[in-house]
Amino acid sequence: MPRWISIARVEDCPPGAAIEAVAEDRIVALMNVDGQFHALDGVCSHQGGPLGKGALNGKIITCPWHGWQYNVTDGQHCLSASVRQPTFPVKVEEGQVLVDIGDE
Ligand code: FES
Repeated sequence: MPRWISIARVEDCPPGAAIEAVAEDRIVALMNVDGQFHALDGVCSHQGGPLGKGALNGKIITCPWHGWQYNVTDGQHCLSASVRQPTFPVKVEEGQVLVDIGDE
């Protein structure tokens, strides 16, 4: 079952930006690539760094702690094929960005 949670207003995350947001008990990294929103689990798969506070360069987010890099469109780690950061479906409604965190 989808469970859509509003995490930000559209203007909170302009093109080229990454922000950290909260969806109930989940930390979400929200990125805006050329007007398209993408959401990853905000807790880095390496050692739990805050991905949403990382630098976004094109479609690549760099974790601020030790520099692991992920493609924000699918969560794929840029160097290790075996590491993929979980993603969340995203939609925009009435100026709000929502993510589907699914069932618990
Ligand atoms: S915690 Fe993200 S790179 Fe180490």
